[in-house]
Amino acid sequence: MNSLENLKIRGLKAEDLDAIVKIDEKVLGENRKDYWERKLKSMNNKSSQISLVAEVEGEVVGFILGDVSGWEFGVPETVGWVDTIGVEPGFQKKGVATALAHELIKNLKAIGVKTIYTLVSWNDWDLLQFFHAMGFTRGDMINLELRI
Ligand SMILES: CC(C)(COP(=O)(O)OP(=O)(O)OC[C@H]1O[C@@H](n2cnc3c(N)ncnc32)[C@H](O)[C@@H]1OP(=O)(O)O)[C@@H](O)C(=O)NCCC(=O)NCCS
Repeated sequence: MNSLENLKIRGLKAEDLDAIVKIDEKVLGENRKDYWERKLKSMNNKSSQISLVAEVEGEVVGFILGDVSGWEFGVPETVGWVDTIGVEPGFQKKGVATALAHELIKNLKAIGVKTIYTLVSWNDWDLLQFFHAMGFTRGDMINLELRI
């Protein structure tokens, strides 16, 4: 891995919207500004402090959205969630996502979280490989769906 020396991790701010939309568009090939506007607005103050961006020389090159929850889904403790992670394609494979995830894990640990969940599509090979590299394993919960 070719890591970056001048990488800075900081809390996500409302002004990061355009940078996040740009990264998301480069990764997925679709502009989803409305979606991201709604998503960032709906994040409460607590989770926005947990959500982070990675900067290189003032440019946002990656982000991670994290959240904390209590008893949802019958999980009997405070758990953390990784909602979304994205790294600008030109900055991938340089340790940006690792730095974001380590900082998020540190922040979640500091507020008492013992387990972190995330959901990844079976087809998202890069994300599966990344979470595997971070130490995530298959959990006890299973994903159920009903097509209507
Ligand atoms: C998955 C993703 C977050 C990884 O970001 P990254 O900054 O490149 O990851 P890192 O450099 O920290 O990689 C850490 C480890 O994860 C694994 N990994 C990361 N990307 C990988 C890939 N494309 N293929 C295989 N393994 C991968 C490797 O083990 C890697 O360690 P190594 O470089 O020593 O081999 C990035 O590829 C991405 O943003 N993908 C799109 C995700 C997405 O669809 N998000 C929603 C919309 S934005």
